[in-house]
Amino acid sequence: MCSSFPVGAQAADAARPQPTVSPNDDAAAVDLAAYDAVADALLARMTLAEKIGQMTQAELTSLGDLTDIAELSLGSVLCGGSSDPAAGNSVTAWADAYDACQQAALNSRLQVPLLFGIDAMHGHSNVLGAVIFPHNVGLGCTRDPQLIEEIGRATALEVRATGINWTFAPCVTVPQDDRWGRTYEGFSENPAVCGELGAALIRGLQGARLDDPRHVLACAKHFVGDGGTTAAPPAKPDDPRTVALDQGDTRVDEATLRRVHLAPYRPAIAAGVGSVMVSYSSWNGLKCTANRYLLTDVLKGELAFEGLVISDYNAIAQTDEDFRTAIGKSINAGIDMAMEPNRYRKFITLLTDLVEAGEVPEARIDDAVRRILRVKAALGLLGPDPNVTADRTLIESSFGSPAHRQLARRAVRKSLVLLKNDGDLLPLGGGAGRILVTGSGADDLGMQCGGWTIDWQGARGEVTPGGTTILASLQQALGAERIVHAADGRAANGDDIQAAIVVAGEPPYAEGNGDDADLKLTEQDLRAIRDLHAAGVPTALVLLSGRPLVLDDAASDADAIVAAWLPGTEGAGVVDVLAGAHAPTGQLSFSWPRSVDQHPLNEGDEDYAPLYPLGHGLTYGK
Ligand code: BGC
Repeated sequence: MCSSFPVGAQAADAARPQPTVSPNDDAAAVDLAAYDAVADALLARMTLAEKIGQMTQAELTSLGDLTDIAELSLGSVLCGGSSDPAAGNSVTAWADAYDACQQAALNSRLQVPLLFGIDAMHGHSNVLGAVIFPHNVGLGCTRDPQLIEEIGRATALEVRATGINWTFAPCVTVPQDDRWGRTYEGFSENPAVCGELGAALIRGLQGARLDDPRHVLACAKHFVGDGGTTAAPPAKPDDPRTVALDQGDTRVDEATLRRVHLAPYRPAIAAGVGSVMVSYSSWNGLKCTANRYLLTDVLKGELAFEGLVISDYNAIAQTDEDFRTAIGKSINAGIDMAMEPNRYRKFITLLTDLVEAGEVPEARIDDAVRRILRVKAALGLLGPDPNVTADRTLIESSFGSPAHRQLARRAVRKSLVLLKNDGDLLPLGGGAGRILVTGSGADDLGMQCGGWTIDWQGARGEVTPGGTTILASLQQALGAERIVHAADGRAANGDDIQAAIVVAGEPPYAEGNGDDADLKLTEQDLRAIRDLHAAGVPTALVLLSGRPLVLDDAASDADAIVAAWLPGTEGAGVVDVLAGAHAPTGQLSFSWPRSVDQHPLNEGDEDYAPLYPLGHGLTYGK
């Protein structure tokens, strides 16, 4: 529906305030306060309805013919994990949808363009044909901020090919319990790694100037303590494999909250991040969305964050059974923009009522809108010639480009961690014998990519065009005639098999659906490893997973073990290491448990006894 909206040139509004201050080109980070004069001039012209409209973010798929955008002066549109334009999920359908939404915004009285937000979490990961980079769990093992900054720049270009000016990334969570379904969104269990790499991604995404049309607004999330929730198993009484961690309660003292979970926000803010998303989770029983101390005193006060604070998807309603009360609590706590995918109209009505009744001070509304307008000004959206149309030349030059695939392949090989390599089984390049390849992930692009890929939960199989599976990459690197792809390990019997590769791991998942009480390999994958071991075939286990899995017998049955995490579309990067073109250099960014009952397991624990410690990682020839 969005793409059917007419797209046309819009005359610049002469009355629109002009930027009076330009940020320093050489500045390392975007200075948002430099845009206060522009923001304040526009704020002064706004009615209460226009202000509250700016504070509201609606979901594209709820917006129908888009007329609500101008009628309600909406400040932002989002596309959630499974949301696509009505015209489909092609890059051009997205660019059309973006242009149409911006044109709709320019029909409003003050013609304030939109922030258009999407979860470009590992590349422009909602859009068919984009390069899918490794999830953060793998990037954390590279310990390479330059590489991650480059990934940020590449991602920004692919996002801008669709016009979109805001990504809900990076996630700077510090996951402390790997049973949590969002562990892979975090770079590490170690706050310093999360801070350094999160800041690098922000620099890459945002650049030094947000009005550079090759960059996008970043969003550090989820503030704060999302990775520290306390397990309360089982989440589903009929399924003992489940555990309630997602959106739970982080029961730690303030010193721990600051040392572990708040720490990455300092470098993120120093890098100039323009937005922060608040966590669904609670801190000692109080939802972060309604926590004035955390949002206003700590984030905006002590940490001097000048950008906008957005609530998570429908999170405001979680702060109170009564929606009006929930809105009052959240806005008064310091939420500036409300992610209200479907109930945006109701949100506007109730917030207006709260302001008129004096229950939300107008000064709070002005602070929220000033922050939103600052960010818009920094993005070049409030000047005389706002940047509101997708630059379609980027579709040809950048979207899914060979250069980005090469970058992703480099990131994949740098993220691989060689956990074990008995008898120097790896690399497999030498020899002329045949290599048996099996396991649930051997030929599965969707499993390589994980959740938040095309769909919210991801999917098995050929989820997106482009990219290569590990099997296809092995065939290319070693020659198809040397590769035997088999359904299980038994095919090795009586064959001239030099070695076997079992690619095992987790099916895709996202958020609470990934909460998992036992983190086991599937019985079928375990059996393949067991059978190969029994047949005396040297076996390398390659793991595709969003977190360390409990290996059970596979820890001893497999001769070599490689953690490949969720590498994305460029399976060739895995084979670069398996076949020996590149030696592994990755270091674990999470401690690897011996058994699931060790969780939560983190470096610095008193009785720290992991199977492989944080930082572990072997290489070849040593
Ligand atoms: C997630 C956020 C995400 C948002 C928008 C929520 O369910 O918690 O991380 O940015 O959806 O898709």
